[in-house]
Amino acid sequence: MTQRTTRAPGRVNLIGDHTDYQDGWCLPVAIDREVVLTSSARADGRVVVRSDALGSELDTSADAPIASVVPAWGRLVVAVLRVLADRGRPTVGFNATVASTIPVGSGLSSSAAFAVAVAMTADPTLAGGQVALVAQAAEHLASGVPCGLMDQLASVHGRAGHALLVDCRSRHVDPLPLPDSVEILVVHSGLARQLEHSAYAQRRAACELASANLDIATLRDATAEQVAHDPIARHVVSENARVLECAAALRRGDVDAAGRSMLASHASLRSDFRVSTPELDLLVDLLVGHGALGARLTGAGFGGCVVALVPTDVDIAEPVSVKYATMTSLTADAFTVRATDGAATIEE
Ligand code: GLA
Repeated sequence: MTQRTTRAPGRVNLIGDHTDYQDGWCLPVAIDREVVLTSSARADGRVVVRSDALGSELDTSADAPIASVVPAWGRLVVAVLRVLADRGRPTVGFNATVASTIPVGSGLSSSAAFAVAVAMTADPTLAGGQVALVAQAAEHLASGVPCGLMDQLASVHGRAGHALLVDCRSRHVDPLPLPDSVEILVVHSGLARQLEHSAYAQRRAACELASANLDIATLRDATAEQVAHDPIARHVVSENARVLECAAALRRGDVDAAGRSMLASHASLRSDFRVSTPELDLLVDLLVGHGALGARLTGAGFGGCVVALVPTDVDIAEPVSVKYATMTSLTADAFTVRATDGAATIEE
């Protein structure tokens, strides 16, 4: 029987947070941390997925009531099946095992990668752009969090050695080579993201209110002058400009300028958009103090990870982790990530 292995990477966002759901710009990187779904088709249409790491198994179908699916991680699987069915897609049943090297709840898009892998397994003929949209709709359905499309696009369109300049309005993804002189360090603060579901929805609603008041579709269309007195909207508008500055700096190999854009992004997420935490702020300070060119919280905020751009010849993971532990009694997990290709399936 044909066995299929579908790999979907997580992502780290270099810059451009809380812009995707306002049609803005972001610069994520698909990383060498991934979800792997190994499957074989079943004739009866059922979907059975086993996780050895979690010690649990899901046995379900597209019509199961999502909120009562157990184990709870299976809700996203059913949501993907439901979205595909609602779109009239011809899905296949399958037996699968799932494994993941993406830390859960850290802001590295473990659930987006999982949804992408499930969508590609349940509907092998679904086109790449559609995979991202199906995975996003499933996330909305399963968790109620009104996420944007950045995570799913990054997982689908990743390119080895490249960051991805994403225009979230056109959904155009422009791969941009990462300079050899730097590496990307991710540091988990040791605190899982908190309040992220309700606070994320609140921030998004505040952005929607701001654009409605300005009588524009989204904050992508606002000018700096129009939002000067609204810190939430001001972040989105200034962040879009920083993404483009950072991308231009990377293109010309000016890693110092790219790092400065990242630092300005963190300041804006902290003071204007207010999604940082004292621990994330401390990590950013420590990383820069030890030689990072730039550092910022990455993803939704409220805990999770920071991302840093670090010269390849500087080793800061160890001293930063030690200092952070003595100052907070939390354990930071620091690891370098490599930019990888997007989700793919191999048949054996
Ligand atoms: C989460 C969401 C994304 C994006 C980021 C913030 O990761 O899933 O769509 O909004 O937060 O940039």
